[in-house]
This record gives sequence, structure tokens and C-alpha cells, in this order.
Amino acid sequence: MSDALTASRTAGDRPPIGVLISGRGSNLQALIDAIARGELRARIAVVISNRPGAAGLARAEAAGIDTTVLDHRTFASRDAFDRAIAMALLERGVRLVCLAGFMRLVGTPLLDAFPNAILNIHPSLLPAFPGVDAQRQALEHGVCFSGATVHLVTRDLDAGPIVRQAVVAIEPDDTVESLSARILVEEHRLYPAAVQDVLDGGWALKGRRFVSAHQSPGSSRYGTRNR
Ligand code: GRF
Repeated sequence: MSDALTASRTAGDRPPIGVLISGRGSNLQALIDAIARGELRARIAVVISNRPGAAGLARAEAAGIDTTVLDHRTFASRDAFDRAIAMALLERGVRLVCLAGFMRLVGTPLLDAFPNAILNIHPSLLPAFPGVDAQRQALEHGVCFSGATVHLVTRDLDAGPIVRQAVVAIEPDDTVESLSARILVEEHRLYPAAVQDVLDGGWALKGRRFVSAHQSPGSSRYGTRNR
């Protein structure tokens, strides 16, 4: 477990998390709702968007959450943009960063500021179909199952240790839209649970595996929901 997260265990029951978005923000909303229901013991200290008009900003504001826009186009370099994000998170005491539809690659300054403390959600069963248009990739490949993955963010795109996955069966008449909608339902369940897994601590990385002491042999890291 990272030092930052270890510290968060002693900082009270509701460790501060930061959420980075670029658009719609439905996963952000799922985190907000899970916190409101008491299912996720955390506090969203800040929502940062790289897009000024992101719809997710309004969701955050409606929930009374502090928001910041850091438009990547206004920074001289990718590192400068990453440093500004890291600063905005650190100055609010954020211990865990959740990417929720954040459409920028995470670079060294941000990774170094939050070692093993950045999560991402991706709409496929990684390592299958990383990158953009994961649902279209799955349909075009002809797989029978796809789903969603929450993973720790590393230097390599969509390739970090897997925290949780959910499986979604592909139907013969699926379109990108219909499959995306069913995967999104699972994403909204998966992300708060995975964030809680990480905040609970008691986990370690073994090679590239996320191994948690809380996951007994009978317990499951995935939700299977076929329709
Ligand atoms: C989700 O499908 C997520 O898996 C991917 O981007 C999409 C973001 O949707 N990384 P939203 O902004 O959370 O609604």
C-alpha cells in the first residue's frame, strides 16, 4: 500500500479523494451517490476537469463539491499540466485520485505525486481492448463477453494492476450504444466498490497483481451480470 494511503487510514474515516473528469461525469455521480448512501467512506475534496464545459462539473457543483478547471490547452507542456493537477490535488490533502472519463494521459509528475494511488475505470475486460472505443473494439472483435475494469494507473495506458472487474455478456443484436449502456450500469457499481477496496488498505502488489487481505478465497472481486 502506498505511503499516502497508509496515512489516509489514520486521517479519519473519510479520506479525501480527488476526481478527474473530461466530460459527462456519470462515474463521478456514482461516486457522489455511493458516498451519500454511506457505501463509500470517502470525501470528494475536489473535481478537476481539463474541459471547461464538462457536464460533470455541474454534477459536482450540485453536490457542493469544490471544482477546478485546468485546461490542458493553456499549458506550455504536458509536464506543466500534470504538475498543476498534482498541486491542486495535494493542496487539498487528496490521498487517492480517481480518473472518471479523464481523456488525457497521466504523466510522470502526477504519477510521482501519487504512487500507486491513481485509479482508472475502463469499459472493457482489460487487458483486452485498451484505449479509445473499447466497446466498438469488443464488438468488432466478436467476443462473447466484455465488461469494465478498475485498475491502478501506471505509465502504460490501461495496463496497471487490476482491482476489480465486472462482466457483461454481448448480445447478437448489440450496437456500440446498447453495449456501452449495459457496461455503464456495471461501471457505476464497480467504481465505488473498487475505490473502497483501495481505501480499506491491507493490499499489496505482487508482481502486477493487486492482492488484498480482505479478499478471502470465497469472496469475489468481480460482479457477473449477464444482461
Ligand atoms: C466511461 O465509460 C469510462 O469507463 C471511460 O470513460 C467513460 C466516462 O463516462 N473511461 P462518464 O464521464 O463517467 O459518464
